[in-house]
Amino acid sequence: MEITTDTVALITGANGGIGMAIARELHRAGAKIIVTGRRADALEPIARETGARVIVADLANRDDLDRMHAEAGEVDVAVLNAALPGSGHLLEYDAAQIDKVFDVNLRAPVQSARYFGERMAAKRRGSIVFISSISGKVATAGQSLYNATKFGMRGFALALRGDLEPHGVGVSTIFPGFIRDAGMFAETKVALPAGAGTRSPEDVARAVMRCVRTNHPELNVAAFEQVFGAGLFAVAPGVVAAITRASGGAQIAAKMSAAQKHKR
Ligand SMILES: NC(=O)c1ccc[n+]([C@@H]2O[C@H](COP(=O)([O-])OP(=O)(O)OC[C@H]3O[C@@H](n4cnc5c(N)ncnc54)[C@H](OP(=O)(O)O)[C@@H]3O)[C@@H](O)[C@H]2O)c1
Repeated sequence: MEITTDTVALITGANGGIGMAIARELHRAGAKIIVTGRRADALEPIARETGARVIVADLANRDDLDRMHAEAGEVDVAVLNAALPGSGHLLEYDAAQIDKVFDVNLRAPVQSARYFGERMAAKRRGSIVFISSISGKVATAGQSLYNATKFGMRGFALALRGDLEPHGVGVSTIFPGFIRDAGMFAETKVALPAGAGTRSPEDVARAVMRCVRTNHPELNVAAFEQVFGAGLFAVAPGVVAAITRASGGAQIAAKMSAAQKHKR
């Protein structure tokens, strides 16, 4: 769909590293922006920069999620980007922490797609963009909850795309790999093995624009070896698990999980 000055675009997790880049790019294209997140003070700079309307809502809280939908009303573009890292061994998580990962990373985007998708279908215009992860295509030890939500998001989005296509509503999913400069991976400051590639938050934002404009079904925003690994994982997951182990994947996952523990 075309993005014009009449387009209203909502971004969840808009104060995060990737969410901010997406909000900027949509603003630059002329859209009216709604930024959402848990913390008003953290949303303030991107709201000021883009002239966005702010909705503060904790997506782990069901009443907050419903209120966010009601306050946003009709939007033309919904970028469902907010997520928790959900990293670490499953046995380190208590039941409430597990629920929180699913609520934020999967339940909230599904409910938002239901709410906004119905309104978009009535207008026969709209685009829903899910931000998954290359972890939605490759499962790694020490990432079971994150993998579960990001794989789940992929299946949901692909099926929903078929459901909403006859109603003129686009559904796309983006699969970022390791993102440098800002966001949940960059914040950990964990070093990748030599030669491992990264992409920037702006690369993800450009992919969002492409999906909105062309209704592309899925886009990877990841270095070649991560995209290749995802392709291989689809046919030979055991081989990829062995390669990941041999290349120190478990140590990287453990360092990331330690650095992200405060977000559980
Ligand atoms: N960075 C990467 O390398 C990478 C790679 C692949 C995929 N991704 C995906 O890209 C998306 C954005 O990630 P990011 O790197 O920008 O992460 P980030 O900087 O940690 O941002 C995540 C955003 O989600 C929000 N959020 C978390 N819990 C929430 C809750 N309960 N209610 C409402 N908002 C909540 C955060 O708000 P607070 O600031 O208040 O916590 C923040 O705005 C995520 O879906 C992530 O899985 C990232």
